Amino acid sequence: MRRKIAIIGGGQIGGVLAQLIAQKQLGDIVLFDIVEDMPQGKTLDIAEASRIDGFDVCVKGTNSYQDIAGSDLVIVTAGLPRKPGMSRDDLLTTNAKIMKSVAEGVRDNAPDAIVIVISNPLDVMVTLFQKVSGFPHHRVVGQAGVLDSSRFATFIAWELGLSVKDINAPVLGGHGDTMVPLLRYANVNGLPVMELLERKYASAEKAKEVMTAMVERTKAAGGEVVKLLKTGSAFYSPASAVIAMTKAILNDEKRVLTCSAYLNGEFSVSGYYVGVPAVLGAKGVEKVLELNLDETEQALFDNSVNAVKKVVAEMETLGF
Ligand code: APR
Repeated sequence: MRRKIAIIGGGQIGGVLAQLIAQKQLGDIVLFDIVEDMPQGKTLDIAEASRIDGFDVCVKGTNSYQDIAGSDLVIVTAGLPRKPGMSRDDLLTTNAKIMKSVAEGVRDNAPDAIVIVISNPLDVMVTLFQKVSGFPHHRVVGQAGVLDSSRFATFIAWELGLSVKDINAPVLGGHGDTMVPLLRYANVNGLPVMELLERKYASAEKAKEVMTAMVERTKAAGGEVVKLLKTGSAFYSPASAVIAMTKAILNDEKRVLTCSAYLNGEFSVSGYYVGVPAVLGAKGVEKVLELNLDETEQALFDNSVNAVKKVVAEMETLGF
């Protein structure tokens, strides 16, 4: 059976996503935006590449929520991106308004869909989408950890001169300045990255210094791109991260991907969406996998959860 995937927000991320989904033939696509003609223009452009790329899916642009009816998956990219000097949390007021209207549109037109949210501030926007839509928590998930972990892995690959394909480097917590790259769990096909660094530099101290620099670069990686682009934020890599999640869900792959998932006691947190390792399959978030954090890691994770809680509280005082 053909799958139907709706993308809400046809900007930078939405456009790349539509192209990737078409090229990979993951399903028929509806690209929705409030801007007139733009999603129609982008999808026409993508469709006209179908003969060249050899894909055969329907790609439709729209300004009407009715067109997302029957979607199996909805991907929400609607919302302003950051400008240089802004934190993701600075987007709260504007994007909360947008997210509320999007959640209502999706709730009323695609009530059975699984939803992946990308808009920032991520963990808070996922929270708001779930609250307004009333969808079960396991059907609403946020993309952040797949990208943050990929950024961390990329820096490690460059540092060690090894293939990025063999590197696993989990990043947990909220998708903000307090995110927690887990250096103790970073490995190259099972070999601890810290040990490889110690061997490379023949110094535990230098290895720690190099790792700390990579951790800090990972935490600031989104801002590094914003600073260079000047007019927007990262869009290729967030779209790729969503593709990994989309495949996991639509193909019931049971992949373990770090995403913003609702916690119900896991990691000693209840009632919040935060980045954790989760099993993604046909039901959405099928399970959150806990791992042992040492005292320092737990303190960093708690700090990150507290940062998410603070912005959720702020959003509530704004009336959302
Ligand atoms: N409903 C649907 N789409 C909307 C709405 C709305 N109420 N309001 C704005 N949009 C659309 C805009 O018209 C624009 O096309 O959302 C799109 C956002 O696209 P970009 O501005 O290009 O932003 P992008 O880089 O794609 O990032 C989108 O993801 O990573 C986050 O921080 C980023 O919040 C931002 C989001």
